[in-house]
Amino acid sequence: MELNRRTVIAGAAAAGIAATTLGGTAHATGGRTPVKSLFGKLADGTKIYCWSLENGGTRLKVLSYGGIVQSLEIPDRRGRYTNVSLGFDTIEDYVSSSPYFGALIGRYGNRIAKGKFTLDGKAYQLSVNDGDNSLHGGAQGFDKRVWDIEPFTKGSDVGLYLYYTSVDGEMGYPGTLRSKVTYTLTRHGDWRIDYEATTDKATVVNLTSHVYWNLAGESSGTIYDHELSIAAARYTPVDSGLIPTGELAKVAGTPFDFRRTKTVGEDIRVAHQQLLYGKGLDHNWALDKGITARPEHIATLRDPSSGRTLKIATTEPGLQFYSGNFLDGSLVGTGGTVYRQGDGLCLETQHYPDSPNHPSFPSTVLRPGQTYRSTTVHSFSA
Ligand code: GLA
Repeated sequence: MELNRRTVIAGAAAAGIAATTLGGTAHATGGRTPVKSLFGKLADGTKIYCWSLENGGTRLKVLSYGGIVQSLEIPDRRGRYTNVSLGFDTIEDYVSSSPYFGALIGRYGNRIAKGKFTLDGKAYQLSVNDGDNSLHGGAQGFDKRVWDIEPFTKGSDVGLYLYYTSVDGEMGYPGTLRSKVTYTLTRHGDWRIDYEATTDKATVVNLTSHVYWNLAGESSGTIYDHELSIAAARYTPVDSGLIPTGELAKVAGTPFDFRRTKTVGEDIRVAHQQLLYGKGLDHNWALDKGITARPEHIATLRDPSSGRTLKIATTEPGLQFYSGNFLDGSLVGTGGTVYRQGDGLCLETQHYPDSPNHPSFPSTVLRPGQTYRSTTVHSFSA
């Protein structure tokens, strides 16, 4: 019985078919076979699908638009599930007004000053969409692209392969960039992201994920009571446009010191110039471990009221911690409530902002023949 089921599911996955007709949970693989449903349509008629996955107590919904995590449900210490990721109910809302809710970010997560950089002696001008600067890949970044999605089940893991090819010159970036992002839900309920990309011309790449976490639930109010630790003795201070000055400043004695666990809100109202620039915390922490071949633990976020805990491990050298400062009460989320400042926070694993203009920062250059690789693992407990 179980053997038959496993064969059927593996067959469906291999054929790239949504296992909608199979229904139910796939106990043979330890998780639910990804199920595909129609989420909505873009103005030009393109169908946007929602993929639902479940494994090890974590439930994930992913859109083919932007690779967006539309919902991520985990239990609290009493087993009560809630969606801990901010988002919308309709594709129209994602298209018209999303501040990158749950999205894949590319080609370059974070800011590039004035959208300019020089590589191998050639100057490039990128799409500028954040004041004078280029943010998150420009006006039509990877968060606004339709990704091809293939489900898989592998041993006790379930997941999705997401593919997007960015043409040479898109948003001003050189080279055809082929990206493959793998979302895996493990039997422990971990959500793992593996990013890969190749190019046919020298270019810069910095992919990340822009989930807004609220471990008490996406419509439960602010995250200021969440406890956070970040394994970083230094961060990259910014100018008023949130572009790094190039300095790697010590966090000791500043609101940026999260080496010992403290609440997000503890120092957020300190009159520090950097907090004025960011309207709160919106900075890149230079992780002590630097770039690593394997994901290493770098941050822990915990909501004391529910006990829900998120641990992040990554291969990346940086973490952009954004405390949801620009949420301004103008968006209505999946829970039917308005999102206000601080209702969610982002922990974006990445290379440092504006690296193409800072030779002293770890390089984000990708050349033909090389494969860009980056991995981040989100582990949940309560
Ligand atoms: C990133 C940036 C923030 C802000 C958000 C989106 O996290 O660092 O400054 O632009 O994206 O609102």
